[in-house]
Amino acid sequence: MILNELKIGNLTAKIPIVQGGMGVGVSLANLAAAVANEGGIGTISGVQIGFREPDFLTDPIGANLRAIKKEIKKAREKTKGIIAMNFMAAMNNYELYVKKAVEEKIDLIVSGAGLPMALPKLVKGSSTKIVPIVSSAKAAKIIIRSYLKSDKLPDAVVVEGPLAGGHLGFKMDELLEDKCMALIDIVKEVKLLLSIFEEKYKVKIPLIAAGGIRTKSDIIELKGAGADGFQIASLFVPTVECDAHQNFKSAYINATDDQIEIIKSPVGMPGRAIKTNFLSETGKFNITKCYRCMPSCNPKDIPYCISEGLINSVQGRDGLIFSGADLSNVNKMTTVKEVIDKLIR
Ligand SMILES: Cc1cc2nc3c(=O)[nH]c(=O)nc-3n(C[C@H](O)[C@H](O)[C@H](O)COP(=O)(O)O)c2cc1C
Repeated sequence: MILNELKIGNLTAKIPIVQGGMGVGVSLANLAAAVANEGGIGTISGVQIGFREPDFLTDPIGANLRAIKKEIKKAREKTKGIIAMNFMAAMNNYELYVKKAVEEKIDLIVSGAGLPMALPKLVKGSSTKIVPIVSSAKAAKIIIRSYLKSDKLPDAVVVEGPLAGGHLGFKMDELLEDKCMALIDIVKEVKLLLSIFEEKYKVKIPLIAAGGIRTKSDIIELKGAGADGFQIASLFVPTVECDAHQNFKSAYINATDDQIEIIKSPVGMPGRAIKTNFLSETGKFNITKCYRCMPSCNPKDIPYCISEGLINSVQGRDGLIFSGADLSNVNKMTTVKEVIDKLIR
């Protein structure tokens, strides 16, 4: 298959594969560097990245800032390739964390779950590229118009469709009734929008498609619709390089289709996850500590704590396991190289 390199400003990824950021702690330096070493772009998740620091409970901000520096340094020691960092725009202290990653010279910031309007200001004076994640042309237009006020354009755009894992930029009822626009159609719409700005400002804004990409033919189809890059997350979970606990990886290998469900996340957005005891017990939790991760979250009103659920699962305990749709071909442990070879080589 002939696939072009993925050029984002002065950065060139030899293969157009981007590993999607996976929080909490599922994609850290190890997975990101392995993907970058294959010629793609690896993404460290910045969401509650300090969860392994000894003072995380008492000083989550300090722990997160320290861990951002540590993980970027660790990734740089493992690869000379391109490393991105993912932050959710709706997170508390978002700007502080992004600034820290920029200070540590991260190559790209990829950001969704809310509109990442502050990115131009946060990377000013640096060479860090900004890549918003959108699920519609409407959102892309709002973001681009806002960036233009700072004389900036996004360096690339991730278009995430309804089959992705984690939090989803679609309405709950549309997801449950299968009425969301398909990724390929959103790609076409966003491509058209980007071409207007590309023409006007004489720049290239690469489009990276994400959500449910499982095979070579998915890639060929999306390339035909105008995608320049392909962001993949779920397929990288059951790899030896993935930073999550083996129990997390095994949950992917063992999950059947009817065990993957749309959930209402305490963050206020829908999400896709594997059914676990943790989720079935929802509502029976006594929330005793708050990690202060989301401004929109009030511990009194939520069925469970999302940070606790995600930290539990990534460390191998019963918890919240985000996943993309359709894991039917995910049935054994593999390696990053094997995943990429199957997809594009
Ligand atoms: C376990 C898991 C955690 C995720 N966490 C995040 C996250 O913290 N921030 C984010 O922007 N996207 C997150 N995502 C979405 C991915 O980055 C990616 O765009 C999407 O899952 C791609 O679809 P795929 O999993 O079908 O390949 C997560 C996905 C998974 C599977």
